[in-house]
Amino acid sequence: MITLSSTTDMRSWAEQQRAAGKTIGFVPTMGALHSGHVALIADAARRADVVVVSIFVNPLQFNESTDFDSYPRPIHDDVATCSAAGVAAVFAPTASAMYPPGFQTRVLSGALGDVMEGPNRPGHFEGVATIVAKLLGAVRPHVAIFGQKDFQQLRIITQMVTDLELGVEIIGHPIVRDPDGVAQSSRNARLSTNQRRAAVAVPHSLDAAVWAANDTDDVEVVVSAALAVVVGEPLAEHEYTTVFDATTLQAISTLTPALRSPGKVRIGTAVWFGDIRLIDNCDLFPA
Ligand code: PAJ
Repeated sequence: MITLSSTTDMRSWAEQQRAAGKTIGFVPTMGALHSGHVALIADAARRADVVVVSIFVNPLQFNESTDFDSYPRPIHDDVATCSAAGVAAVFAPTASAMYPPGFQTRVLSGALGDVMEGPNRPGHFEGVATIVAKLLGAVRPHVAIFGQKDFQQLRIITQMVTDLELGVEIIGHPIVRDPDGVAQSSRNARLSTNQRRAAVAVPHSLDAAVWAANDTDDVEVVVSAALAVVVGEPLAEHEYTTVFDATTLQAISTLTPALRSPGKVRIGTAVWFGDIRLIDNCDLFPA
């Protein structure tokens, strides 16, 4: 496995692979790799000849400098994880290499970025779209894998690739969960033992919503069912729960018959445990 730190080196390595007739699968990450990331890598390996993983904690997408500073950076473990997973190249650039003096261009995410995570994290999706555009330009993959864990991010990247005609296939990988249902996240490592135990309220609240949606078309009733679970957990502080159209990401108020099938409507939530913010989502009418 090779580790590359400049865009020039990354691009020439990718050019060599392409010249040798190899297809490239790409998994962009911010490191602190867990089995959710590894599942994305395995997915990429099934779809392409060689896999590239980028590891870059992107300052442009953090609203709080404390969150950026405290983001875990176990680079040696991450490189070992990539090597064990059969990754061909790790792209780990520095912030000054990605954002040299004079850098000023931004990719705007449009209406897809104005909902859910958007208002709560100003500039976040602009930062995500900008870095992903840069990473795609450096790696020039045939296929790139993103997790449904960050469903809004996945939708925004898919739209960006369509709108800017970037010529890469975007795949959404299902959410990887711990045995108790909590979605894997690099931020979970910062939860105390009690907070980690309490975090199960997040997937349980989504389960309650899925059950409730069987018996009502009123989204308020569905959201109340989810909220009741989170409010019942003293260590949890609820931020938002939204039922939304999986394509437009716009909030839905009535679950009409046409919407009651897999892939059409999702429910997403953000919940705080102390200073740690967890997000999760799921299909409201799973197959
Ligand atoms: P990061 O949070 O490291 O996540 C990298 C990829 O792993 C994302 O596509 C994310 O959705 C996916 N992922 C994380 N946890 C997952 C889980 N439990 N199940 C399935 N997929 C999961 O998302 C980012 O980094 C950044 O915003 C990035 C796209 C790299 C741009 O900086």
